Amino acid sequence: MSDTQSVNRRVLIASSHPLFARGLTRLLQERQAGDVAVLGVVSSTAEAFQAIQQLQPDLVIVDYDDETLNREDFLAHFMESSGKIRFVLLSLKEGGDQAMVYDRRNIAASQIDEWLSEWTEASPEESQKHTSYAAPDVRSGKMKHWIGAIFLVLLIAAGGIVGLRNARLLTQPASLQAIPIDQAFSVLWIAIASLFALITGLMLYSVIAFRRKKGDESDAVHIEGNNKLEVTWTILPLLTVIGFAVYGSLNLSEVVLPDPQAMEVRVVGQQWSWRFEYPEQGITSNELVLPVDRQVLLRMESQDVIHSFWVPEFRVKQDLLPGRETQLRITPNRTGDFVLGCAEICGSQHAYMTAPVHVLSSADFEQWVFDQTDLPDDPVARGEIWANQYGCLACHSLDGTRLVGPSWQGLYGSETVFADGASRTADAEYLRESILDPNAQIVEGFLPGLMPQNFNEILSDTQIDDIIAFIESLK
Ligand code: CUA
Repeated sequence: MSDTQSVNRRVLIASSHPLFARGLTRLLQERQAGDVAVLGVVSSTAEAFQAIQQLQPDLVIVDYDDETLNREDFLAHFMESSGKIRFVLLSLKEGGDQAMVYDRRNIAASQIDEWLSEWTEASPEESQKHTSYAAPDVRSGKMKHWIGAIFLVLLIAAGGIVGLRNARLLTQPASLQAIPIDQAFSVLWIAIASLFALITGLMLYSVIAFRRKKGDESDAVHIEGNNKLEVTWTILPLLTVIGFAVYGSLNLSEVVLPDPQAMEVRVVGQQWSWRFEYPEQGITSNELVLPVDRQVLLRMESQDVIHSFWVPEFRVKQDLLPGRETQLRITPNRTGDFVLGCAEICGSQHAYMTAPVHVLSSADFEQWVFDQTDLPDDPVARGEIWANQYGCLACHSLDGTRLVGPSWQGLYGSETVFADGASRTADAEYLRESILDPNAQIVEGFLPGLMPQNFNEILSDTQIDDIIAFIESLK
């Protein structure tokens, strides 16, 4: 409502005929005195545009019969100009008392053809020229935009696929399970890059090609929904996701395929070490040693918090949970040395919860089994083996370095001071108590509760004696 009022106030007249302009000015002032202000009279199209820009009239009255004014220019300017301007095309010829009013806010770009034919009805000899003004341009412009957008989408997709393929995000695979997993990666790279390109390509093209032109303050064309488009962009992602699910399931079934001949290894994780028990061979080790080309079934359990078994070259990954066995099947297909890492935040030393992994030929594996089961007679040598196998050395250094627990270097026979101020000589009796009940007395400067409290279940008396003998050898 307020719009209509303001529209009628500031008027610009465009005509090169003085009579038309003067007569109209007087007419306006007489009829609506006080309500209207004639800002000026312009006699050419160029002048008119300059005046429109500077004076910002609400209404422009154009002398429709004036041959010197370019109607097409007016029309084009009208379509591009800001929302408030109205144009009145006034004709003094037959039927000239009927003015044509155009309000650009009500007219979409698609109606420009209709408009043009209205314009040209008054001068039929010009109609041929006018119809060729917009229609073919719109169509060839559309085609140009499609070609541009598709080109950009293909360019981004190609760049994405090549980039992702060469990104070397994965280590060299070393297991049969890695083959389908790497295959899935390649397929997903292509799908991801294509979808990314489709979305960002169209978006980027629109941002560049349809950006606001300089000086254009008009509103965008208002679009009310598009059913075809909405159905397409619902169905397409749905099919894509279902496709991913089917492909992923088939792929996963390949990864977890069991071999009844698999060798079993029990994996025990605890803060912050790994232990591997081989029930068939009767071996406990702190290194995971595996024969090549034979499936191994890892039965895994945690003694405290959640840990996660991960050797990147094997690709597969599995959490270790306290109180519940989880399983993982790996068939190493390449000999070599790898590193097992913990892939689940499990406390202050999480980052250092690693263990060596060795994949050996069958013959080398047999030799390793033989070496492990053939224990030395020397208790000190045996103690060192136990200290390695049961993860003691993850927290106790042999060279005086301060780790989570006190270093074993020079420990035996030394005077140990506790957090409560008491002290005691570190003899065999004290060391045995400390292994079996680590929280009874905490050495000054160290934290309680960090050492596992289950060594009475894990270690035999002889093993504890061997470990004490090994510590004694370090004084
Ligand atoms: Cu164990 Cu992180």
